[in-house]
Amino acid sequence: MCGITGYIGKTNGLPFIIQGLKRLEYRGYDSAGISYIENSKIKTYKKKGTIHILEKNIPGNINSTALIGHTRWATHGEPSDNNSHPHNDCNNNLSIVHNGVIENYSILKAKLLEEGHKFTSDTDSEILAHLIEKCYDNDLLSAVRESLRYLEGPYGLVILSAKEPDKIIAVRNGSPLVLGIGEDAMYVASDVNALAAYTRNVIYLEDRELAVLTANSYRTYHFESGEIQKTIDKIDWDLVEMEKKGFKDFMEKEIFEQPESIGKTMKGRILKEFATSKLDGLNMRTSELEQIKEIHFVACGTSLHAAMIGAMWLENYVRIPCRCEIASEFRYRNPVVRADTLYFAISQSGETKDTIGAMQEIKIKGGKVYGICNVAGSTIARLSDGGVYLHAGPEIAVASTKAFTSQLAVLALFTLLIGRSRNLSPSVGMQWISEFEALSSNMDKILAQMDHIKSIAQKAKNYKNFLFLGRGLHYPIALEGALKLKEITYIHAEGYSAAELKHGPISLLDKDMPVMFIIPKDELYDKVFSNLQEVKARTCKVFCIATEGDTRVKEMADDVIYIPESREMFTPFLTVVPLQLLAYYVAKLLGKPVDQPRHLAKSVTVE
Ligand code: AGP
Ligand code: GLU
Repeated sequence: MCGITGYIGKTNGLPFIIQGLKRLEYRGYDSAGISYIENSKIKTYKKKGTIHILEKNIPGNINSTALIGHTRWATHGEPSDNNSHPHNDCNNNLSIVHNGVIENYSILKAKLLEEGHKFTSDTDSEILAHLIEKCYDNDLLSAVRESLRYLEGPYGLVILSAKEPDKIIAVRNGSPLVLGIGEDAMYVASDVNALAAYTRNVIYLEDRELAVLTANSYRTYHFESGEIQKTIDKIDWDLVEMEKKGFKDFMEKEIFEQPESIGKTMKGRILKEFATSKLDGLNMRTSELEQIKEIHFVACGTSLHAAMIGAMWLENYVRIPCRCEIASEFRYRNPVVRADTLYFAISQSGETKDTIGAMQEIKIKGGKVYGICNVAGSTIARLSDGGVYLHAGPEIAVASTKAFTSQLAVLALFTLLIGRSRNLSPSVGMQWISEFEALSSNMDKILAQMDHIKSIAQKAKNYKNFLFLGRGLHYPIALEGALKLKEITYIHAEGYSAAELKHGPISLLDKDMPVMFIIPKDELYDKVFSNLQEVKARTCKVFCIATEGDTRVKEMADDVIYIPESREMFTPFLTVVPLQLLAYYVAKLLGKPVDQPRHLAKSVTVE
């Protein structure tokens, strides 16, 4: 969840270290620090708080060719100056930055303390500096390799040594690290966003791999098998996609970008001639698609909500039994994995530890797992047997928005593809294709109502609690609306199936419990309308998302946001947009840090 940067080169690497950390800010963090070599000595500065605070506390004249940097998301020890990374050994000869958790750190720490090592923090990570110090015998690479034998748990690690100032070593086992290959410098970072402004050539380290970097060379090794040759990948997106482009926050930009990002997801993937879609990355022949008896999804958070909708589509329109599961639950319940089941892991970042764990469990049990992710080259993309990229462009805000609608687009395209290989007629296929084509302009119509949604946010901001209710396809949308609101406004919000109201939450209803109904014109409209009446009768403020022209809802609700009419299957693409905007405007009105809500990280790379 933290960010790591490392540099070894011929000129001052400080600009990269700081800029790189800033590019990784979106991942979430609570403190930051750097170490560098100056006159053959290690210098370290670290501070609780933002990179801005760190910047103010470092000398303006740093000029070093060997540096490491870190933003921390505390797992062991509170966020504080001392617990911030880098951590150094007793003699200040080496410095490390670590992402992940050393699960057996307490045993190792006890032993190192017994041997006389002096600790200055409460973190698990500090043992790494002392362990390497203990193993060091004039060869940093050997000392690092020796130390790794003792470690349990996930880590991404970069090491700097005053005794061997011409190199840095990067190690990956369970936490992502990418190498950047420059002209007169080598870089390392937790993800490519930090590298893009400096080099387009990158190498993704896999688990149990390490790299020794010097100013003009890199060598890569596997923990067990020794030196290996790795391929160089190219970063293929534009840096401007990482800018706010005139918006106040990345989240605002990403919400408003959706008509465009969804277009990119669908581009080249619709085959009008055959009324179907094509998803080449899946690498599946029609005969393979035909053999699928069940489909299971594993994912977390927003990606799970997309999976829930995909599962409903596939069951309803293609008659394939589907199941959706929280990845962290799936991996630990000893699931049955079958060869005739298709497994999908859905993830924006492609680095979510719980989802990766679930994929590994599927593979261990002999299953094949396909990925739906946004970040090219990410761990999930590389672990997948095949997959589909979202092509939504970088999503920087912690709260996921455009990735969700692009995940829905991929799932709808897949439903079309597998449906056409089975029961779906060409005419239904063509009807769906016209809906795909209308999505961008329908989203535009909702975004154009921003002032109206802002005025609703004015009313919504004063509440401490919120209920989101929907049914069928809009039950996951209710969950997603509640997740968006709670994560960025800190207002307590719950999503429920409207039908579940009477089984418990109805007792919460009073004038202080506003309810957001997602009630488009669909099969369950009348049922949800009855729920609406039940709520209204209990003095609650009622907000609704309804289909254009629905005057019945207007009479009952305090406020209505209308979405354009569309085929039932495609309504979730539209109902989610006002909920994203509402959460965004409420957070702004409350003065919350929209893009980086407290405690949250964009890529959840720990369990
Ligand atoms: C979304 O707004 C959340 N920040 C979070 O639930 C997120 O969707 C979840 O952590 C999964 O991330 P992923 O899609 O990158 O795997
Ligand atoms: N476990 C380490 C700590 O608490 C590293 C956390 C991180 O990944 O930022 O310091």
